[in-house]
Amino acid sequence: MKRIYMDHGATTPVDPLVVDAMLPYFTDKFGNASSLHSFGQEAALALEQSRKMIADSIGAKTEEIIFTSGGTESDNFAIKGIAYRNSGKGKHIITSTIEHPAVLNTCAFLENEGFEVTYVAVDNDGIIDVESIEKSIRDDTILISIMHANNEIGTIQPISDISNLARKKGIYVHTDAVQSIGKIAVNVDELGVDLLSISSHKIYGPKGIGALYVRKGTLLQALAHGGGHEHHMRAGTENISGIVGFAKAMALADERIVDDTKHLTHLRDLLIKKVMDSIDDAYLIGHPTKRLPNNVNIRFRFIEGESMLLLLDMKGIAISTGSACSSKSLEPSHVLTAIGLKPEDSHGSLRITLGRGNTQEEVDYLTDALVEIVGRLRAISPISGKKSSFTVGSTPDM
Ligand SMILES: Cc1ncc(COP(=O)(O)O)c(C=O)c1O
Repeated sequence: MKRIYMDHGATTPVDPLVVDAMLPYFTDKFGNASSLHSFGQEAALALEQSRKMIADSIGAKTEEIIFTSGGTESDNFAIKGIAYRNSGKGKHIITSTIEHPAVLNTCAFLENEGFEVTYVAVDNDGIIDVESIEKSIRDDTILISIMHANNEIGTIQPISDISNLARKKGIYVHTDAVQSIGKIAVNVDELGVDLLSISSHKIYGPKGIGALYVRKGTLLQALAHGGGHEHHMRAGTENISGIVGFAKAMALADERIVDDTKHLTHLRDLLIKKVMDSIDDAYLIGHPTKRLPNNVNIRFRFIEGESMLLLLDMKGIAISTGSACSSKSLEPSHVLTAIGLKPEDSHGSLRITLGRGNTQEEVDYLTDALVEIVGRLRAISPISGKKSSFTVGSTPDM
């Protein structure tokens, strides 16, 4: 059976050019970047070249990039690092109700440590109102952490407006750019942020590697103590092969962003139109235009997302009902709840995140599969009341 992967928000396949770039760093060039001999120097050179490539890609200075194990660590580092180092100035943090668990659970952890967190609401499209951020700012606010683009519904937030506001008040701004990087322009000066999280495995790079951008002069507490790696900000022998792969993936993303955006936007809009035209009671979730070029999130009334996901998987199509991190939970998605969906409505949603390798034929195949599966599930749904040509006994390949 043909397998179609449309869950690029969860992770992406590693680009073969990235694999090629990484391979020598497992074998010939295996040195420890802290060693003084030639093996070490070879690794140290690759480390600094990679750091420069990543910095150049987001308009940062080389020394402003700290390598981490990925988006989760970068988010933890940014938020706890600012909180611990600046607690003398204040203990109040502002974030939003639709952040990734890496941010929300870090904030919850800090609340237990005596920090106060304001969770700003979003509108029904999932967009944050800058005015509500302004109203939440207090004299003791030290950090605003708002994601650049949402992982479930793809909405893009007005980060530069938030930064303009924060800058006037001397408040640090962190953004989680894990989903936006490689899909829309990410430049730290245009966004005006002090800290920015990136993860390699969302951009056709390897898993377990990422970075935190830290604007020069930002007061940040190191969380991992040991040797003097990463300018004494994150101890531990650097994952050179991962770092080289990450930098290559960033360079490829930059090279391809124009073509990728065109391709993904075309497939995204085609998929939305086809589904809307062919299935009743289907609704797009998230903002119609302020959304990532590869994100489609659709709610189908009267059915469960999990049942659709399993039936699509049987047809070889991989998609998701929410973020990968929460898809094993039966709780309604916190993002869908935050945009005002009732639990019964959020349970019928599917997240389709397209990638470079997807084609129009695959979008057609997915739409046909959805028409069939939604029809079947509604036929057996006690709440649907929809007439369908399918009956319970006529679903041999369900
Ligand atoms: C918005 C966002 N932030 C953070 C993360 C965590 O990144 P990582 O998997 O690299 O730890 C993810 C991963 O899904 C994400 O989508």
